[in-house]
Amino acid sequence: MRTQVAIIGAGPSGLLLGQLLASAGIANVIIERQNGEHVLSRIRAGILEQVCIDLLDEAGVGARMHREGLVHQGFDLLVGGERHRIDLHGLTGGKTVMVYGQTELTRDLMDARAAQNLPTFYEASEVQVSDFDTAQPRVRWRCGGQAHELRCDFIAGCDGFHGVCRASAPRGAIREYEKVYPFGWLGLLADTPPVHHELIYVNSPRGFALCSQRSTTRSRYYLQVPLTERVEDWTDEAFWQELRLRLDGPAREHLVTGPSIEKSIAPLRSFVTEPMRFGRMFLAGDAAHIVPPTGAKGLNLAATDVKYLFNALREYYAEGSEAGLDAYSERALARVWRAERFSWWFTQLMHRFPDDGPIVEKFQRAELDYLLHSEAGLRTIAENYVGLPLDFGAHAGRG
Ligand code: APR
Ligand code: PHB
Repeated sequence: MRTQVAIIGAGPSGLLLGQLLASAGIANVIIERQNGEHVLSRIRAGILEQVCIDLLDEAGVGARMHREGLVHQGFDLLVGGERHRIDLHGLTGGKTVMVYGQTELTRDLMDARAAQNLPTFYEASEVQVSDFDTAQPRVRWRCGGQAHELRCDFIAGCDGFHGVCRASAPRGAIREYEKVYPFGWLGLLADTPPVHHELIYVNSPRGFALCSQRSTTRSRYYLQVPLTERVEDWTDEAFWQELRLRLDGPAREHLVTGPSIEKSIAPLRSFVTEPMRFGRMFLAGDAAHIVPPTGAKGLNLAATDVKYLFNALREYYAEGSEAGLDAYSERALARVWRAERFSWWFTQLMHRFPDDGPIVEKFQRAELDYLLHSEAGLRTIAENYVGLPLDFGAHAGRG
């Protein structure tokens, strides 16, 4: 079998890249380890920046998102019992974000791919990528007891943090940066109306909490918990009780509780791989980097990697130019590090760190106090949250 681009992984990165390539007439095959149902069962954040929305439109899969997604013009920070609104729209000259669950977005991409009959191999085991240091990279896998082999021009490693692509890069050519946080997020999904029409990020003495949502009838809440906690030990009632203790009076009053549809604990990690290209293999999305979820940047970073990679591949096939491919890693990493920095900073600003003494808590409160009472501080939060422009930094003395 032969194709132009072999895409490993059918998460949002792989599916979006596949749609964009197909729209430009570039042949691609997706190889995914799990089945489609399993991919759709993963619950993840769903806050889309404008660049991500634009890209979904470009891929021709934005219709349902525009119908069902909720445009948010701001969010609240609850600090020391006081609510402060971050007016994204007002502080950024009209920018907003869209609340649209990653599960829904993935489903839209999967449906579009199926409707166009684009080749996709689910339940692929023993996936191996090789020869990406030559002009003829190769992917091998097994499916239903049968061995498959695919020859291609390029491999796109969209196979997430635990994937095979990054693991197959030569060890001497790769550098990894990692920070693991000393706590996790316990998440609960429920078919109850959200406590507030916008998100509330909470810094409380009992730890961080987040009131998020998927729609006007489905809420998503999170609690910072020690890494030693086990989800089995958290009844729904215990979750709601702890959440109430971290909220303010009005939110406590408006909170509608109900049975959970899903409950899980996720660890928090900052992680970056450099470079994101190894010969004719390119990494995109979680395969190359992980952010803690506090800034909701994971999906948006994956989307911008895909945008850079798609543009580079299109340029290669249309004009025979490798300039975009050669610039991919540096271009993507510049944006990745900005979002990594914001996610790390926002995480350390909003959580209780078990090893920090009272003086660090005072520093945190003083920083929040400054940010929330300064136009420059508010704008710093807002412009990072809505996403820095794609060409950010390009004109500021970077040659
Ligand atoms: N072979 C084939 N597929 C694989 C392999 C493998 N060896 N290993 C992993 N995969 C698949 C996974 O099953 C998964 O479906 O690759 C896919 C990777 O998808 P994601 O983990 O969702 O990563 P990505 O598509 O980059 O999406 C990034 O997801 O984790 C969030 O915050 C993140 O929102 C961001 C988005
Ligand atoms: C979510 O809705 O799951 C969510 C929203 C915002 C975040 C993180 C997660 O920052």
